[in-house]
Amino acid sequence: MNQEIKEILALLDQDLNQSTTLEKLRQVELTYLGKKGKLNQIFDKQTKEEKAKQGRVLNQAIQEAAQKIKDKSNSIIDQEANQKFDVTIPGILPPIGHLHLVTQAIKEISDIFEKIGFIRRRYPEIDTDWYAAEGLNIPKDHPARDDQETFYVSDNVVLTPHTSNGQLREMELVKKPPIKMINIGKTYRRQIDASHVPMFHQFEGLIIDKGINVTHLIGITNYFFQNYFGPDRKARLRPHHFQFTEPSFEIDISCGMCAGTGVLENGEKCRLCKSGWLELGGAGMVHPNVLKNGGLDPKKYSGFAFGWGVERVLTMKSNLNLGDLRNLYSTDLRILNQF
Ligand code: PHE
Repeated sequence: MNQEIKEILALLDQDLNQSTTLEKLRQVELTYLGKKGKLNQIFDKQTKEEKAKQGRVLNQAIQEAAQKIKDKSNSIIDQEANQKFDVTIPGILPPIGHLHLVTQAIKEISDIFEKIGFIRRRYPEIDTDWYAAEGLNIPKDHPARDDQETFYVSDNVVLTPHTSNGQLREMELVKKPPIKMINIGKTYRRQIDASHVPMFHQFEGLIIDKGINVTHLIGITNYFFQNYFGPDRKARLRPHHFQFTEPSFEIDISCGMCAGTGVLENGEKCRLCKSGWLELGGAGMVHPNVLKNGGLDPKKYSGFAFGWGVERVLTMKSNLNLGDLRNLYSTDLRILNQF
């Protein structure tokens, strides 16, 4: 091997011995292997003939130097790791998640209804037009369809805009009343603003038996309000219209963000409710046509149904101040971690 190369490698050994950190090592690497480094400089100085003769030797030297630097680098990394390893330091806990706020609410709601004998059901999110509309007494050309803001998958298949699609399915499943179902699931509508998200959840109650009337509906509503919201929240029933119930009601509850006044503490209009009342959702006595479509005799049986939003009841709880419903489905852990 060329004497000059040998000397350079010897110098490298010395320098490597003195390199105790990765930064120093990087400096050494540049000094010897950099473009303007000691080894490449030899190459640059050589004539064509010398290059032809010694090129291989020089390349070997470069490889040898690179290997030495790499070995040294590994040993520095090992050393640093050993020095830093303190067996007394507690391990790093993996982040543990928790159930989403909506999932927690669904559990709470189903617990409340299951306690008084409702059976929890799940029916399809993607359903035929029959179950979602036509079988519920909403004919194809009826203006009530405009309210539904439905996503169509095809002419006859929809992303269900409400959990009422479970009503006929429940009648078909149980066949003979009593029916006492609580159907909780995902629902879809073409709406998005501070109080609407296009995918949301509803819980649908359906009771059918002999002699069921509006007082039963009011009783169950009160039971739910007292158990879910507590005694401070007020309910209001308004006459309404649904194709699948008669009579029909809209049930409102006083807003938890502005305490039913419509105005926030800072004097601004409440963004959540605007009027002090939040629309909870619809309810009513099951329409005779719907009972018939479900294979039941309306002369023998009667029932009531309600369909309310999970996200709605969640934000109406007095201790929850989400401001904008869309926050629920953001991926911002600073929001989700709070619950
Ligand atoms: N399905 C109705 C809605 O989504 C609510 C409703 C359910 C009304 C059951 C009456 C009876 O608005």
